[in-house]
Amino acid sequence: SSTKLKPLKSPISPGELSVIEKSKQLAAWTAVDEHVLPDYRVIGIGSGSTVPYVVERIVSQGAEANKDRVFIPTGFQSKELIVSSGLSLGDVDQYPTIDVTLDGADEVDTQLNCIKGGGACHLREKVLAEAATTRVYICNQFILVADYRKNVEYLGTNFKAGVPIEVVPFAYAKVLQNLHQVLDSPKATLRMAVAKAGPVVTDNGNFVIDAPFDINKMKEPYTIMAQIKMLTGVVEVGLFCHMARAAYFGNQDGSVTVKW
Ligand code: 5RP
Repeated sequence: SSTKLKPLKSPISPGELSVIEKSKQLAAWTAVDEHVLPDYRVIGIGSGSTVPYVVERIVSQGAEANKDRVFIPTGFQSKELIVSSGLSLGDVDQYPTIDVTLDGADEVDTQLNCIKGGGACHLREKVLAEAATTRVYICNQFILVADYRKNVEYLGTNFKAGVPIEVVPFAYAKVLQNLHQVLDSPKATLRMAVAKAGPVVTDNGNFVIDAPFDINKMKEPYTIMAQIKMLTGVVEVGLFCHMARAAYFGNQDGSVTVKW
């Protein structure tokens, strides 16, 4: 299902933010208002450029609202964000059940399946998503926030970089070979750091492969995810299937689309 909400007044005056930034902010603010409830104590914070607006809105709830809360990061970036915002930092090994996790996405389909890992954080992001879905059917609270470009019918429509796959360095060449020859992703490549200085290394010390698939295959993301996960050396796949409860997309006209 999907619905469109009325425009939310942005705290930043028009012109200060680009349309895309503003739509990220609208999505994040609306999601926080809907899903970060006063009695929630353990909150998962994802990664990427939309998540700072999530934290911005949480901070605006005030010191009293946040004094008994602990915030769990998905990586280096969100850890810095939590600490620099004056919020209390926790770890998922202390809090394996999370009240709500809010995170960005590279693309979200109509079934709320999504691609994540544009920032190479998808292993920890999936752990936190799962921690917020532990009580699935009772209280699944993994919430996505994104701008309008990420709202698609099928994964791979706009996001052409491919499915991010975290692999142990020792196995990367073999995983690449399997993706090319067995799983029909001939353009799968090892993700390189800026200026090709070397491979991107994740917060877990691993490499990342980006594997594009035919759009028709992406209509069944669970199948692709399961096939990739079976390859020896794969740590986690940036396809999150049947995990999110809702996705919020800021639109160019200042409205927010909610999929659930
Ligand atoms: C990082 C992620 C991000 O959440 C995803 O790439 C979306 O980022 P942004 O909000 O910058 O578009 O999965 O691994």
